[in-house]
Amino acid sequence: MEDAVLPDGDELSAAGLRLEVDGEVARIALARPERRNAMTGRTWRALAHVGQALPESVRIVVLSGDGPSFSAGIDLAMFSPEGVPGERTLMADVGEAPEQRAALDAGIAAYQEGFTWLRRPDIVSVAAVQGHAIGAGFQLALSCDLRVLADDAKLCMKEPALGLVPDLSGTKPLVDIVGLPRAMELCLTARTVQADEAERLRLAELVVPGDELATTVDDLVAALAAVPRDAASATKELLQGAPGRTLDEQCAAERTAQADRLISMAAQMGG
Ligand code: CAA
Repeated sequence: MEDAVLPDGDELSAAGLRLEVDGEVARIALARPERRNAMTGRTWRALAHVGQALPESVRIVVLSGDGPSFSAGIDLAMFSPEGVPGERTLMADVGEAPEQRAALDAGIAAYQEGFTWLRRPDIVSVAAVQGHAIGAGFQLALSCDLRVLADDAKLCMKEPALGLVPDLSGTKPLVDIVGLPRAMELCLTARTVQADEAERLRLAELVVPGDELATTVDDLVAALAAVPRDAASATKELLQGAPGRTLDEQCAAERTAQADRLISMAAQMGG
């Protein structure tokens, strides 16, 4: 992974992204504010590329959006017959034939890779959300481990209202966080959740005034960076596995993880 090369400036700018890597922290910004950071297939492929090529030094990833909104979701031009310049329209070659279904499945899987790496145990990901996070934008925020919202944040799972389903890996964290009935209510009405409700629904770890968003995220990054990295990764993995395990299984997983930690600490003391 560490040998991969990060996307260059051309790839990032065509994807509507900016990337800064500074030691332990990578900051990815959605950088198409004039389109409210609407995202295209290129955005998601470039995000996947960033995930594959992150230097091993990086342990914290911050995702933010330039301008008034975190992201207006998919670039709606992706659904038009003309598509987004330089990209295939989503409607090209859609059909029932097995090869068409397989191609569509592979295409969406490639897009999903732009989202799923944010859950990796070796990093902690933080979304800094102001203004609208709609559809794919909401799903991107849901892909992150933690969400810090400005008090003007508005979250909306718009896909069903457009005749579609949320398909960028957001349904699982949504159900995990808010529970099945609330997830259904939010998705099947496609209503907008304001920041104060988002906090009550545990869709935000913190809600702060808009002008404090950046400094609050910086403080969170500093607090996350102050915990030893290996312990943080092992703990994240343990927590992520908890919902799928019984108490006995979780206790066993804790013992295994702790033994690994103690062995590693003993080796450091000895060496
Ligand atoms: N795709 C392409 N262009 C978009 C866009 C989008 N999703 N969202 C906004 N823009 C463009 C607008 O067309 C506008 O362009 P012009 O200046 O050329 O007119 C510009 O960005 C600014 O937009 P607004 O003037 O509307 O800005 P606003 O701040 O008043 O409103 C907004 C912001 C509420 C996000 C509104 O733009 C909006 O509702 N956008 C559409 C949201 C949407 O439906 N997204 C799709 C969700 S579904 C999904 O993402 C997943 C999926 O797979 C289907």
